[in-house]
Formats: sequence, structure tokens, C-alpha cells
Amino acid sequence: MLSDIAAVNETFGIYFLLMQLTDMAAVQAAFANEKLFPPPAAPGAVYWLRSRVARFSHGPEHAHRRALAVAEIARVDPSHAARLAVSRIAAGDSVRQAIIKAFSLVPDKCVDLIIDVAPSYFDPSRPTQSLEPLLDLLGRDEATAARIGVLVQACEATAALVDNDLVPPARTTKRVAPDGTLITLDLSELPFGAPPRECPGKDLALTIASAIVEARRDAAPNTPAAGDAATPAAGDAAISGKSSPSFAMMPRFPRNRDDQGSGHAGGTL
Ligand code: HEM
Repeated sequence: MLSDIAAVNETFGIYFLLMQLTDMAAVQAAFANEKLFPPPAAPGAVYWLRSRVARFSHGPEHAHRRALAVAEIARVDPSHAARLAVSRIAAGDSVRQAIIKAFSLVPDKCVDLIIDVAPSYFDPSRPTQSLEPLLDLLGRDEATAARIGVLVQACEATAALVDNDLVPPARTTKRVAPDGTLITLDLSELPFGAPPRECPGKDLALTIASAIVEARRDAAPNTPAAGDAATPAAGDAAISGKSSPSFAMMPRFPRNRDDQGSGHAGGTL
């Protein structure tokens, strides 16, 4: 019943009671409070996805779906992914494209479809045509939902971390109380959330984002405008912190259209 009310509220954006929590202890307590849950998926552009991932679930369903997401993340080796992301950017990919490719969880032809789905995942009033073709390529089971969910969560938030020089941008998240009150939680002091819903991608995100930022810094001073040394070996050197003549010759790391953020800097994660 509460789910129904909350879904209707979410669909029409109607909440009669609103509350904001900014104090860290209160935010932590709200994360831990099993009676408060994320606004459930409502009809919208990516209902199929939002209604199947941990992020918008609660109770035993949340635990089960979170385990699927954690299993997907465990398939990724952080240092390998960081190296891959750096070399993909050096080869001309956007940060979001590079992050998704670095996970090696989906074929390359899915990458742009996932990037297109991401804004709708966080705000289902934003339309997308990309989910159906993505599901045609990947299938429609729960594990696929977990995989897409992980990649969407990863590319948006990690790209924002890169854009903000490793300082997590100010964000909020939402919870609904049993009486229908919509509660906004300020994540300034808990950028990766708190148990039992803390971000399972934190370490991976920090490893990848640090490598990209470090490589950008290495490539920035006196960088020639063009070069052709976009090799994985150069990316290796950048991550290990060694200076590399071939890396210095790489093109300046591009900030492509989709590196500008999805307009969700203050939105949900
Ligand atoms: C490798 C990159 C990342 C992956 C794979 C990832 C994955 C996920 C997943 C699957 C969830 C849902 C967990 C659940 O509901 O139990 C989640 C939640 C969350 N993530 Fe991440 N994430 C990544 C990067 C980030 C970054 C860079 C930030 C912030 C700087 C972040 C902040 C959060 C927060 C605050 C939540 C909790 C949201 C809530 O429950 O309201 N994540 N993440």
C-alpha cells in the first residue's frame, strides 16, 4: 500500500510533506532505518530497469538485488579497470564511455546506449529510446538489470568525481516515510552513503577516478595538441605515477559532450 502511494507520488511529483536532513548522524540513521525506503520505481522511461535494481528496492528484495550488484562489481579488477579507462580516454573516448568499457561487463555496442539511459534512470521524466535496444542486446533477466544498474550508477557518479577533481560533488538522495513524507538526505558528509545501502562501488570508483585525474594532470602541462601515442603502456605509466614521454605526447584528454555532466549534480545517486 505504501509502495502504491509512493509510486503515485513519484509519478506525479506530489508530496504533501517534505523534510530535509542535513546532520550527518541523522542522515546515517535514515540510511539505517528500514521503515524509510527509496521512492519506488514509478511508470516512466526506464521503469523496467528501476523496478528491478537494488537502488530503488527495499526489504529482502533489496538484499537479494544488492548481492547481484555486488557480484557484478566483484568481476571487475580495479587496477586493470583503471588502466583500461585511462587508455580508452587517451584513445579518444569520453570519460563515461571509458568508465563503462573499463568494467568489461558489456559489449562495446552497448556503451552509448547505457550512457543515454543514465539520465532517465535518475530522473524518469527524462525520456530515452535506448533501454529497449539495450535489453534486446543483453537480455531481460534480473542479473542483466543489476549489470546495467551498476554501469549506470558507475558512469554518472564516477564521471562527476573526475569532473570535480576527486571531490565528491554535493548530492542528495531521497527516502519515503511510512506516512508518505518525502525526506531529502544531504550527502555532503556521507558522499558514499551509509550501511546497509552504502555504495558498493566506492573503492572501484576511487581507483578509476584517481587514475583518470592523475593521467589528466600528467598530460596537461605543455602538452602538444596532437599525438599518436595512445597506448595501454602509456596508461600504465600514468597510473603508476611514473612520467612517460609517450604519455606526454598523448592528445589532451578530451572533455566530450557527455563529459559535461547530466545536469544531476545536485540530484540522486
Ligand atoms: C564504480 C563506480 C560505482 C558503482 C559500481 C556504484 C554502484 C552503486 C550501486 C549498485 C548502488 C546501489 C546500492 C544499494 O542500493 O544497495 C550505489 C549506491 C550509492 N552510490 Fe554508488 N557506485 C559507484 C560510484 C559512486 C560514486 C563515485 C559515488 C559518490 C561520490 C557514489 C555514491 C553512492 C551513494 C550515496 C549511494 C546510495 C544511494 C542511496 O541509497 O540513496 N557511487 N552505488
